[in-house]
Amino acid sequence: MTTTAITNIGSLVTNDPALGDESPLGLLRDAAIVIDGDRIAWVGPTANAPAADDTVDAGGRAGIPGFVDSHSHLVFAGDRTQEFNARMSGRAYSAGGIRTTVAATRAATEEALEANLTHYLREALRQGTTTFETKSGYGLTVEDEARALRIAAQHTDEVTYLGAHIVPPDYADDPAGYVALVTGEMLDACAPYARWVDVFCEKGAFDGDQARAILTAGKAKGLHPRVHANQLSYGPGVQLAVELDAASADHCTHLTQQDVDALASGATVATLLPGAEFSTRAEWPDARRLLDAGVTVALSTDCNPGSSFTSSVPFCIALAVRDMKMTPDEAIWSATAGGAAALRRTDIGRITPGARADLALLDAPSHVHLAYRPGVPLVSDVWRQGKRCR
Ligand code: NIG
Ligand code: FE
Repeated sequence: MTTTAITNIGSLVTNDPALGDESPLGLLRDAAIVIDGDRIAWVGPTANAPAADDTVDAGGRAGIPGFVDSHSHLVFAGDRTQEFNARMSGRAYSAGGIRTTVAATRAATEEALEANLTHYLREALRQGTTTFETKSGYGLTVEDEARALRIAAQHTDEVTYLGAHIVPPDYADDPAGYVALVTGEMLDACAPYARWVDVFCEKGAFDGDQARAILTAGKAKGLHPRVHANQLSYGPGVQLAVELDAASADHCTHLTQQDVDALASGATVATLLPGAEFSTRAEWPDARRLLDAGVTVALSTDCNPGSSFTSSVPFCIALAVRDMKMTPDEAIWSATAGGAAALRRTDIGRITPGARADLALLDAPSHVHLAYRPGVPLVSDVWRQGKRCR
């Protein structure tokens, strides 16, 4: 196998305190990394770097682990520019807009869905995302949900069954019948392609009892839960997520003290999605409150055509720092190691021997520039599973 040494990394975020300055980011100055196949083989000072087959001189640029985007909805068709425009003129966001994308997705060919997914994956990769989770949820029939997951599974191991996104118009008069479908025939068809089961637990989508039934049925089929929780209003989602040991409660915009206490006491990560608050003009989740309570926080894009049409983790980092009171160090940790925790993965989100060789170099002297220079395409080089892809 070929080895590659990346040398002269001015400042490297390893997320391994044992390797670096003992901060959570494990910062290492004048660092080098040796990649062997798809793994990191060695990390340390450039002066001590072992010889490798190839060498890339980073020229003092900063290095970070590849971003782990643990929440996206990328199997879709169509566009909701009009809805966005209306919101920017004062209209409120509601879950109802999902129906527009459901209609367009059902009407699209498999090739068109695949091409769309690939387009956004490339876009994300250029911006440093080396792992992404993605969901169904715009099909909402047995065939259309299974098709979405089959397409997603060709591109990632982190596939989530979200048949319970909303009750589709065809079941408007029979929500109980739709829950029976989601927990029965649809689950049977979808489970082989998915690792996770998710539900949009919200007024206008699924209530606590329905969400519990859906997550429990998914668990019985070997899927692990994650939950769209407390996005648009207070509700039972977060506490249900902790109770069922969900890997993540996502959004967490409206939290009571009991919700925060529950998250602090369990192993469920709080995944914050500031792209959604940006593009729905909603209030920001209180990241500071969660961090101060000792909750593990992840940051992700929620990339979807309705509530958050960005594939850019750097943009979300900048929002989290500016508007959610995270420090740049916290935001970068949450978008890398935090995302890995939200996917219950230990092989990604850090640059340490044995980890997957997923990393990015920045056209900047430090990772802090990701927040300090918002909107600037700083990601200059990307390796995913040891392969250079930018
Ligand atoms: O995570 N909240 C539920 N689902 C998506 C939005 C989907 C849409 O508007 O199309 C979200 O924000
Ligand atoms: Fe979402």
